[in-house]
Amino acid sequence: MAKDYLLPDLKDARKRNRELSQKVHFSYDPSYEGMGDGLCYYIITHGCQANQRDSETMAGILDALGYVSTEDETKADVIIINTCAVRQGAEEKVFGEIGALKRLKMNKPELIIGIGGCMCQEEETVKILLDKYRQVDIIFGTHNIGSLPKMLHDVYATRQRRVEVFSKMGDIVEDLPVTRFMSHKAWVNIMYGCDKFCTYCIVPYTRGKERSRYKEDILLEVEQLIGQGYKEICLLGQNVNAYGKDLSDEYGFADLLNDVSATGIDRIRFMTSHPWDFNERMIQAIKQNDNIMPYIHLPIQSGSSRILKKMNRRYSKEEYFALFDKLKQELPGYAFTTDIIVGFPDETDQDFQDTLEAVDHCRYDNAYTFIYSRRKGTPAAEFPDATPQEVKEARLQELNKKVAYYANLNNQRFAGQIVEVLVDGLSKRNSHTYSGYTPENKLVNFTGTDIRTGEIVKVKITEVLSFSLNGIAVE
Ligand code: 5AD
Ligand code: SF4
Repeated sequence: MAKDYLLPDLKDARKRNRELSQKVHFSYDPSYEGMGDGLCYYIITHGCQANQRDSETMAGILDALGYVSTEDETKADVIIINTCAVRQGAEEKVFGEIGALKRLKMNKPELIIGIGGCMCQEEETVKILLDKYRQVDIIFGTHNIGSLPKMLHDVYATRQRRVEVFSKMGDIVEDLPVTRFMSHKAWVNIMYGCDKFCTYCIVPYTRGKERSRYKEDILLEVEQLIGQGYKEICLLGQNVNAYGKDLSDEYGFADLLNDVSATGIDRIRFMTSHPWDFNERMIQAIKQNDNIMPYIHLPIQSGSSRILKKMNRRYSKEEYFALFDKLKQELPGYAFTTDIIVGFPDETDQDFQDTLEAVDHCRYDNAYTFIYSRRKGTPAAEFPDATPQEVKEARLQELNKKVAYYANLNNQRFAGQIVEVLVDGLSKRNSHTYSGYTPENKLVNFTGTDIRTGEIVKVKITEVLSFSLNGIAVE
């Protein structure tokens, strides 16, 4: 096949300009209408909430073309894997999955396999997919979801593989169709991309520059969700606190929080916050609006100021503590969680002790902990690192023990209490039990009768575990 595509380029993806991103509208050739009639699709999603939301867009596009979703991949005519590139482990899993699809494709040659998401923004991955995974028909990047109709059409027409990956800073595409996977909780993108360039992280390269959606578009989406009966929204961005900075000096995340709150939706969450942009007005907006849930995720990444500097996190341990202590004081009863990386290049025992001390200081409700994973193309990938993997693993274990200790300690305050749970449905573990989340984002498994997904029910907590609560519905 003649090469009619460009491979992604991480160096190109690093570029930033000050120009406002283009707002573009989604459309496709009307002749594609009905392309999927009588056909099924199956989507596998890896990674963060941004990917979950992107998969909902992919589903929306496929539904619009006439395909229907299936839970059984052997029945699918189109299988899409939406990939994550944030750590090596996630990538290996995807390669394993694509490998396993080979047999399905052998049995059903007309099956179309599409690979999208962050891994496709990496030159090396695309080369491997093209060289070694002949079963893949479509490779598309995070900026190219809107091209799915044309790519599918072209594969049907030519039976050739299609690649479309732009390494650009990114547009804002409004009007993309969406099929949400839940009927009571919704992800709402408020901004895309990231300009922080933490030295370990691939996201600024795979998702382009920080660009905010217009507040009118966000508020309209929230109003529509309320109309459809949604109870909870989560405002999404890699760094939500920077919302609006690219659009104007006057309207920022605090203003957006106030306006979204005024829509009257029951529950509002947001993620992720970067300590750098968290200002006093945001704290006041969170404090003053009862429908903003009492839960804040504030990644620290490391407790060592030396490592934080090497990570380009833009704050020292002391500065993080100052913000954290202020939040704790101003927002009593709130739950706080964090992200922590251990084994960043040349993290010493002392650096790691500083991280343990930070957990002791902040006493988090929970922490998502990771061993540093080298991402080619990021600055940290070139940093010397003599720490053996076993040492990193031992550090992770020690850290996890401490995290579990505080998680349990924090959960004790709910023992015997009555909490409000937004019901997600039957529990994954036990078919006689329901599950859902409290305002503080605590997972509750509980028993009850006539419970419906999307209801907010009162539950009496009868047992406290480190990472969940058990209880009985009381109404
Ligand atoms: N290795 C390990 N963890 C990482 N994260 C991001 N990049 C890496 C990496 N290269 C973690 C950070 C981030 C979370 C989403 O993933 O903690 O907050
Ligand atoms: Fe990655 Fe840092 Fe941006 Fe978060 S803020 S997405 S860790 S570069």
